[in-house]
Amino acid sequence: MSNQENFENHINEGYTCKGDYIALGAAMLGEEVYGAASIKIPLKTLNRHGLIAGATGTGKTKTLQILAENLSNKGVPVLLMDLKGDLSGLAQPSPGHPKIDERHKKINIPFEASSFPVEILTLSEQDGTRLRATVSEFGPVLLSRILNVTETQAGILAIIFKYCDDNDYPLVDLADLKKVLQYATGEGRTEIQEQYGSISKTSTGSIIRKIIEIEQQGGDLFFGERSFEINDLMRQDENGRGFINIIRLTDIQDKPKLFSTFMLSLLAEIYSTMPEQGDSDRPELVLFIDEAHLIFKQASNALLDQIENIVKLIRSKGIGLYFVTQNPTDVPDGVLSQLGLKVQHALRAFTAKDRKAIKLTAENYPTSEFYDTTEILTSLGIGEALVSVLDEKGRPTPLAHTMLRAPMSRMDILTPTELKELTSNSNLAEKYNETINKESAFEILNEKIKKAKAEEAKQAAKKDREKLNKRTSSRKSSSNSAQKAIIKVLTSATFIRGALGILNKMLR
Ligand SMILES: Nc1ncnc2c1ncn2[C@@H]1O[C@H](COP(=O)(O)OP(=O)(O)O)[C@@H](O)[C@H]1O
Ligand SMILES: [Mg+2]
Repeated sequence: MSNQENFENHINEGYTCKGDYIALGAAMLGEEVYGAASIKIPLKTLNRHGLIAGATGTGKTKTLQILAENLSNKGVPVLLMDLKGDLSGLAQPSPGHPKIDERHKKINIPFEASSFPVEILTLSEQDGTRLRATVSEFGPVLLSRILNVTETQAGILAIIFKYCDDNDYPLVDLADLKKVLQYATGEGRTEIQEQYGSISKTSTGSIIRKIIEIEQQGGDLFFGERSFEINDLMRQDENGRGFINIIRLTDIQDKPKLFSTFMLSLLAEIYSTMPEQGDSDRPELVLFIDEAHLIFKQASNALLDQIENIVKLIRSKGIGLYFVTQNPTDVPDGVLSQLGLKVQHALRAFTAKDRKAIKLTAENYPTSEFYDTTEILTSLGIGEALVSVLDEKGRPTPLAHTMLRAPMSRMDILTPTELKELTSNSNLAEKYNETINKESAFEILNEKIKKAKAEEAKQAAKKDREKLNKRTSSRKSSSNSAQKAIIKVLTSATFIRGALGILNKMLR
């Protein structure tokens, strides 16, 4: 058998699929493309997570686009974190190009231009469906993280949440939270102190200042009604194609902390909403995180542990997570070791540090008798990658230098007019973009303060009358121990709540 035949057999044996699959492209050996050696990912193992890595301009985002398109065609909904805003083209068909035809002839996959059902989501006031959560849902733990408060201040936030919980004061937006914080050391001081212990004005003052900081960064837009229901990510269009939900995050890419916290809360929410899947033949939802290094940048060890855990656990819910980043070393080892699919685009070897990273990367791939991995890593063409996936039995497939297919949709972004049209035709936007101003903590407390003031005036008048009657009254003193009350709150079952509450329970 010739070396070529040998190679073709080697690939075809490794990439056999009995069930449904996605064809990524065709294997290459040297310059030669083997159209008969197709690189397939079994749909069944797409919940086993993955990594798409490579230097800028090597084709990472297009690989993401290809995967999203093909998942959608198989009826699997997709969620894309679009930090640079370059994925909206999925909503329009590719105009085609002779180079694309040439590519597809080589890889022996017919090319078909197509648009896809796209839903644009936003955390801010940009065009798109608003993605919001209430402060209550977010919970005190995650909120403390975003606000970057001290441990004492985090404890106070926990008390505030508990107080609102106990009294049915909905914490919807940041205005509610600020109001309760002010109330806790103002008009409501005695009431709260009796039940939960004393809270210092200095601490609430610092927390309020930090809330204002987040508000100024635009973080307040994320908090409010109507809060997003995870099930709305799971839609199919009338032709049975999965929706591609694109979260435009261009405006928070310079706020890694906000981004990573948002990510974690979203993952926790998805985790808690989805039922266990068992052995399924396809994923329920696949999430892609472009520019993923931003999540891990500046992340504390505690946060990394949490991410690692949720990556491990969410798989059983049929959710696949795909990280897209320049260098595999951007992803912590604990996460990296859990990734089944690897698509490695070209790396550049400018510096000694680059060369070291390349060596490390090469070691993370299955060895191959056909390739010198280290050498290929720096010489891969654009839209080519070293690929290894998990076969239907969960074993890593042979390493394959792959020429990837081209996206069926537009490789460029939508024009502002196209984007406007897309978002204005969205059913979800209609559901989520109306401003709801239902009664929450802010209004309730204002009303309470008003009533208390009226009551106070009434009492004062009464007292005056009593004075006139020259009667003396003995005052009862409250013997509540503030310290004890705080401990009670911190150990109460409802203390840990909201998205991270669920997460914490899982991690225990
Ligand atoms: N699979 C592909 N098929 C055709 N062209 C591709 C493919 N991948 C990349 N390209 C070309 O390379 C350019 C850069 O790709 P892109 O995915 O944006 O790179 P990255 O995200 O790694 O910076 C694209 O604009 C496109 O012209
Ligand atoms: Mg990119």
